[in-house]
Amino acid sequence: MTLPFDVDAVRADFPILETEVDGHPLVYLDSGATSQKPRAVLDAERDFLSRANAAVHRGAHTLAAEATELFEDARVTVAEFVGAEPEQIVWTSGATGGLNLVAGSLGYAGRLREGDEIVVTEAEHHANLIPWQELARRTGARLRHIPVREDGTLDMDAADSLIGARTKVLAFPHVSNVLGIVNPVADLVARAQAVGALTVLDACQSAPHLALDLSASGVDLAVFSGHKVYGPYGIGALWGRDEVLDALPPFTTGGSMITTVTLDEAEYLPPPQRFEAGTQPVSQAVGFAAALRWLGAQDLAAANAHEAALERRMREGLRSIPGIRLLGDTDAAERVALQAFAVDGVHAHDVGQFLDSRGVAVRVGHHCAQPLHRRFGLTASVRASAAIHTTTDEVDTFLDAVSGVRSFFGAGVAA
Ligand SMILES: Cc1ncc(COP(=O)(O)O)c(C=O)c1O
Repeated sequence: MTLPFDVDAVRADFPILETEVDGHPLVYLDSGATSQKPRAVLDAERDFLSRANAAVHRGAHTLAAEATELFEDARVTVAEFVGAEPEQIVWTSGATGGLNLVAGSLGYAGRLREGDEIVVTEAEHHANLIPWQELARRTGARLRHIPVREDGTLDMDAADSLIGARTKVLAFPHVSNVLGIVNPVADLVARAQAVGALTVLDACQSAPHLALDLSASGVDLAVFSGHKVYGPYGIGALWGRDEVLDALPPFTTGGSMITTVTLDEAEYLPPPQRFEAGTQPVSQAVGFAAALRWLGAQDLAAANAHEAALERRMREGLRSIPGIRLLGDTDAAERVALQAFAVDGVHAHDVGQFLDSRGVAVRVGHHCAQPLHRRFGLTASVRASAAIHTTTDEVDTFLDAVSGVRSFFGAGVAA
């Protein structure tokens, strides 16, 4: 018999969840933007900075050795979390940093030229779009996109005709940060592999919710960020297959990534150090690993079932409120507990403020996905995104608040 998920025990680990907003208990439904941090992460960073802080991979002193050990242990933890080897994990400043590294490095390597094609989806976060736009612009390659259907799923028939002999890169989100839909990784990888294209997975929104086994996934490269998976800001990871990372030149250059330097040239260390120029985000790496250890210590099967129930409750509840339009409204796809919606006659920013006045924190705007909003004829939407600590009561508080929005703003009421 499986025990029910003990969400109260999880919540006790997050000091911020005791916050009140305008006399209302905080209902934090903005984890898709950034997650809250459990005490284990706060403690790990503070402990590192107060006990072991030193620059890593340099210095012969005791603290430097300890800091280096903690930093490299963190890499092992992150690697284990995604089913990878530590040498395949490159520290980045976040997913944006990782994607810029990949696109920039492919550009430096001369891997794209005029006539080549880069394929993305219409559901990209700008972080997985603009680096490819730049690469295309600089190399003369063509950027193409797999359209999103009305129900939010990818048009896989279109993908079939788009991905072809000219495709050199296929970059796509595991989970859209607007639609919450899990994209068919295996199908996309199979299409890319059939034409020898490199696959780049943006795992930002899946890492907090789904078990990742990147080695088994078939993708070549993947990025995710610490701050969305209960870890600190300013740290993320790029994962790559050995042969893929080996073949990439560095994107940023400088200290700590070389074997020998003369006034004329430099020889580089192998991955991952080749991609880690300059002083690294050490306390953040330690905090990132603490977050993943904390997450790994939870009952993840029960947590997943809990989050799946929240997702259904949130989506069905929103569906039942008149004047609400869901973005990506389908039961046919696997999803995470993240849902964007528009309220008929009320601007997303007004909705956000109204919800905030009831203690409910959501994201409003285009969520760094303007093309996707344009595809749905919108400039902005409201996004609610849950986390492992979200309760059923919080979802109900949110739904109750949303159901009061239109009457508060007089929307849909005859003048
Ligand atoms: C799908 C997706 N990709 C990329 C990013 C950028 O991540 P980071 O903040 O780590 O740069 C985000 C953040 O919102 C995201 O949701």
